[in-house]
Amino acid sequence: MLWAVGLGSAFAADVPPKEGSNMPKAPDVNVENPAPAGPDTGLVMPKETREQKDARMKWFREARYGLFIHWGPSSLLGVETSWGRHAKRPLDVDQTPPPNNRDDVYDNLYKRFNPVDFNADQWVQIAKAAGMKYIVFTTKHHDGFSNFHTKYSDYSIANTPFKRDIVRELADACHKGGLRFGVYYSPRDWHRPDYLVDGNKKYLEFFHGQLQELLRNYGKIDIVWFDSMGGDWAAWDFPKLAETVLSLQPEILCNGRVGVLQPSSPRPNFDFSRLNDFQTPEQVIGAFQREAYWESCTTLVDGQWGYKPDGLLLTFREVLGMLLYATGGDGNLLLDVGPMPTGQIEPRQAERLKEVGGWLAKYGETIYGTRGGPYKPGYWGVSTLKHNKIFLHCLGFEGDTLTLPPLGAKVLASRLLRGGDVSVSQNDRALIVKVEPQSQQVYDTLVELTIDGPAIEIKPIDVPGSGSLLSGFSQHEKRGSIMVESNGPRKRWWHNPCGPHQMFDDCRLTSWVPDPGATEVSVTLDLGKPVLFNRALIDCDACLDVLDIKVKEAANWKFVGTFESPGKQQQLQFEKATAQIIKLRFKTTDPAMFRVWELQLFAPETSMLK
Ligand code: GLC
Repeated sequence: MLWAVGLGSAFAADVPPKEGSNMPKAPDVNVENPAPAGPDTGLVMPKETREQKDARMKWFREARYGLFIHWGPSSLLGVETSWGRHAKRPLDVDQTPPPNNRDDVYDNLYKRFNPVDFNADQWVQIAKAAGMKYIVFTTKHHDGFSNFHTKYSDYSIANTPFKRDIVRELADACHKGGLRFGVYYSPRDWHRPDYLVDGNKKYLEFFHGQLQELLRNYGKIDIVWFDSMGGDWAAWDFPKLAETVLSLQPEILCNGRVGVLQPSSPRPNFDFSRLNDFQTPEQVIGAFQREAYWESCTTLVDGQWGYKPDGLLLTFREVLGMLLYATGGDGNLLLDVGPMPTGQIEPRQAERLKEVGGWLAKYGETIYGTRGGPYKPGYWGVSTLKHNKIFLHCLGFEGDTLTLPPLGAKVLASRLLRGGDVSVSQNDRALIVKVEPQSQQVYDTLVELTIDGPAIEIKPIDVPGSGSLLSGFSQHEKRGSIMVESNGPRKRWWHNPCGPHQMFDDCRLTSWVPDPGATEVSVTLDLGKPVLFNRALIDCDACLDVLDIKVKEAANWKFVGTFESPGKQQQLQFEKATAQIIKLRFKTTDPAMFRVWELQLFAPETSMLK
């Protein structure tokens, strides 16, 4: 395969490289942009220098927060976009559905898709009130339905009772309202019979034709947000793809998902190419990373991208937490809503977004235009920085004190942005922040430090974790095991942000919500090896009546301690116990409120931030 393209001026940045204290030092271009092409082609993937890329990505990094929208006829059923279609998914990751080519119910939904209450200006207003700076919209998802007028397919909004070109209206509304506009486009297509057939030739014509329509007919497109493709590398002409995209929208940002899902040949090197501007951790917040751009995409309702009528809505604290941890890690958050089949964004979702927007209206200076660090995100909280200011978003106080590692810069002044008094002292071993408990906020005590130089020059600092013996359970599939038994009449899907592992992730901004309606739940943990402990900490809303902790000794369960009416950040001390298998039994009379933010166990003599 010819793995290369020459693009002439298509990617010549016309924005001069920006110099400034918060720009990373430009590395050697050859190191940053290894040419992936074979030696004989003489051609390379479009590339640019670090300065050119930083200039092009500037708005994105400053924006920090965007709205993802997954929408289409599937909203009529309230099932997941595309994945709710029970038919074949050619060469895809999940082959569980029956092996038929169509789903007569799903595939005919478009005939009654008539979202008469759709008002693009209102969506833009909702995003703006939320403090979001850009929108990314599903123009075509894996199910193959196009939300725009296209001459390449009849399976589009033009052939619904609604008829109106949704992409046109939303693009116009974003342009008018001053939001950046991105198009999500799935190269996968489970509807078209020519997808991945006969070398994918016919499908590629369709794919490039639709992309040209999207990138030519709707004014400025700021992001093209591809999802991955099926098949193998040879089925996709990536150089041509880059050419199509960049010749039409030279300044566009392209996420890093252009790539084959289950290839049988090695992956070509996209690194640092124009088809890989930023990474996209999905349903998790990315780890701290300043070297590469990243954007976490997460759902606001119950792990579903499309409309989910009775889905669990994230709380204010969770949404704000995701935004803080993304920004503190030097990344962005693209938060997804699935509008209703009427065309409206569900009022409860719009309300939640607005609450966070209210917070951003007051404290947005600690988010927009900042960089993550210098303290890396952790149990303690997160930090962001701008010029000679550091914003500490503190969560993990012990009493009135939060102890962080030394900063390596002199603190000239400090203040609490949300009112009250703070004192900050420094010595060789620590930076000590003291805030009276009554001035601490449950989800974010915001301390501004003014230091004696540019904060970006401070090397990122690791902050020790909680010290909890259960921390390893944050990745439940990988370490240890968790078993949940509940008397809830319905089962909740385990997924971020609501799996039980969220209790053990050292983050007080993520939570576990058990099965709907459950009044009694037990969680059994196998820690992999015996551990010694004598103290527990719980952080939950006033929703539980009791929490018992038992340990398994031979075949029997031995009781070790009980939290009577557990609540916010309560600690419990008990007789030392050694165990590998631990059972936590929760009881509540108020299942609607059942939510546990954090549960930690400590070895004797350990302090929480050791
Ligand atoms: C995954 C899903 C897709 C969703 C996307 C958003 O690729 O397959 O349904 O649109 O993630 O990140």
